[in-house]
Amino acid sequence: MSLLEVKGVKSGYGKVSVLFGIDLYVEKGEMISILGSNGAGKTTLMRTISGVTPAAEGEIRFNGDSIRNLRPDQITEKGINYVPQEKNVFPDLTVQENLDMGAFLVDDPKDRIDKVYEQFPILKERSKQYAGTLSGGERQMLAVGCALLTNPELLILDEPSGGLSPQATQALVDKIVSINEGGTSIIWVVEENPRQVLQHTKRVYMMANGQIVKTGYAQEFLDDPDFDRLFLGQSV
Ligand SMILES: Nc1ncnc2c1ncn2[C@@H]1O[C@H](COP(=O)(O)OP(=O)(O)O)[C@@H](O)[C@H]1O
Ligand SMILES: [Mg+2]
Repeated sequence: MSLLEVKGVKSGYGKVSVLFGIDLYVEKGEMISILGSNGAGKTTLMRTISGVTPAAEGEIRFNGDSIRNLRPDQITEKGINYVPQEKNVFPDLTVQENLDMGAFLVDDPKDRIDKVYEQFPILKERSKQYAGTLSGGERQMLAVGCALLTNPELLILDEPSGGLSPQATQALVDKIVSINEGGTSIIWVVEENPRQVLQHTKRVYMMANGQIVKTGYAQEFLDDPDFDRLFLGQSV
């Protein structure tokens, strides 16, 4: 049994259909990446798995249990935490206050926050700084740190490296790889600098027009001479 199993999932917004039957799985401890050009439906898929956007059809199972009709907070409780693409921190609160908010419903907030500060020492240094004044890379680290407060079994990251420099992306990649090595499964949605991320993920799903159009081992994607063209979505 895989940790996450998505079968035949369709969803969208009101009458607008966006996903047309998605199948994917994540094994325990695995880090996978989702590729696809802008508008492919990556965010909608992550929202659907996390319960923010309801699935119209299909099945979503986590640790064998159906989570399809659960609310986002119930899905978090089951062990999935989702870091959205945008607005993933409170800019007018300090780093510490963001973490306090994230740990609001956690049993041992102080221990969890200390653990996050250990994983991201830069956040400790910036604890009194307003989140809105952090660099892009630091802000993503804070968003990931907040998600880790609930000690998720599966962490969903929607383009955390969007808009970051290659250096800031590398710092984030290193952190996320170490989180994965600590046992947390990860779905990483990638739009920019895919090679930096794919080197560390085992398998890849490529989306276009609300469907999975290609899946396989990351190495196969990296070795494909057409990868850059495919990735830019010019031929899928
Ligand atoms: N809130 C929304 N209401 C209606 N359509 C939306 C909404 N969000 C996204 N869409 C549409 O769904 C499609 C997929 O978008 P999205 O899932 O954000 O793709 P990606 O993350 O791959 O860029 C796009 O055509 C987009 O316009
Ligand atoms: Mg998106």
